[in-house]
Amino acid sequence: MRILGIETSCDETAAAIYDHDRGLLAHSVYSQAALHSAYGGVVPELASRDHIRKTLPLIRRVMNESGSSSKDISGIGYTSGPGLIGALLVGASIARSLAWAWQIPAVAVHHMEGHLLAPMLEANAPQLPFLALLVSGGHTLLVNVHAVGRYHILGQSLDDAAGEAFDKTAKLLGLDYPGGPALARLASTGHSGKFRFPRPMTDRPGLDFSFSGLKTFTYNTLQTTTKDSQALADVARAFQDAVVDTLVIKCRRALKETGLKRLVVAGGVGANQQLRITLMEMGNALGVQVYFPRMEFCTDNGAMIAYAGSVRIMAGQCDNLEIQARPRWSLTELQDITAG
Ligand code: KG4
Ligand code: ZN
Repeated sequence: MRILGIETSCDETAAAIYDHDRGLLAHSVYSQAALHSAYGGVVPELASRDHIRKTLPLIRRVMNESGSSSKDISGIGYTSGPGLIGALLVGASIARSLAWAWQIPAVAVHHMEGHLLAPMLEANAPQLPFLALLVSGGHTLLVNVHAVGRYHILGQSLDDAAGEAFDKTAKLLGLDYPGGPALARLASTGHSGKFRFPRPMTDRPGLDFSFSGLKTFTYNTLQTTTKDSQALADVARAFQDAVVDTLVIKCRRALKETGLKRLVVAGGVGANQQLRITLMEMGNALGVQVYFPRMEFCTDNGAMIAYAGSVRIMAGQCDNLEIQARPRWSLTELQDITAG
């Protein structure tokens, strides 16, 4: 069974072809970063218009690269939410129209389910159940993944998501959009311990997060610091140390509470090298296996949507003909596909 995946939830247009027997056959991502950089963030209307321009050419490309004709495609998975409504509508409308024309099923895929299943595309895929740390631009979630579609949210961000905190703090440091990777690069030249930032909400029980205070802490630190390039790098490092430490503390706590022995880390911030290394070290110390998608599948991509779509279509999920775009959509509302 060969599935086309379509992702248009935010500022990346992506498509991929996943074959149940042969694995991932082709994938392609177009980033709108250059389009939005002049504005310092994503402009929703520009994002939607660009998805309209890019989605069909990307689908054509992955069809050609995988040697697929329309007759080879048995189903379509498209990101139905959460995300920007206009951007989602582009992918959803194209997916539904192609499925109608080709007389095949199309299923609505939850973007964060796509992220959490992304490590399944790797050779050493994790077995269920596992704990998932999902850290993207819009979400910070600790999820007990019992089965595909059976998710129990253990903790989440009460304000800014981890990626959002990276992006906003990068702006304070004078870095260009997209800020997360730029802040990580600057932090790599900074010295740990020059500035000491708080580890929010780690001094009380619970698994929720709050990152917006770190942004304010950065602002206040910059007010009282000479802004030479080394000092800026040291501040970036202190911020990154604080986010990474906080995520690690909460993961350790969640692993202890659930007794789970596998941890999956996914979403854009999962591309952060310091986070990857520190979580691997934590896993080694606790006897917990830690899984990451390859770097390019941490950030938004079509492969994870094609994979999630294929799992749901294989399990017999069949959506009606409605074009479904859900800007807000909780993981806990998903259909448990193992329930039969
Ligand atoms: O998963 P993703 O591509 O899109 C969403 O679903 O939001 O995540 C994007 C987020 C952005 O906030 C970006 O700044 C952050 O991930 N990000 C990083 C790194 N690479 C991407 N944050 C920290 N370090 C990185 N290396
Ligand atoms: Zn994402």
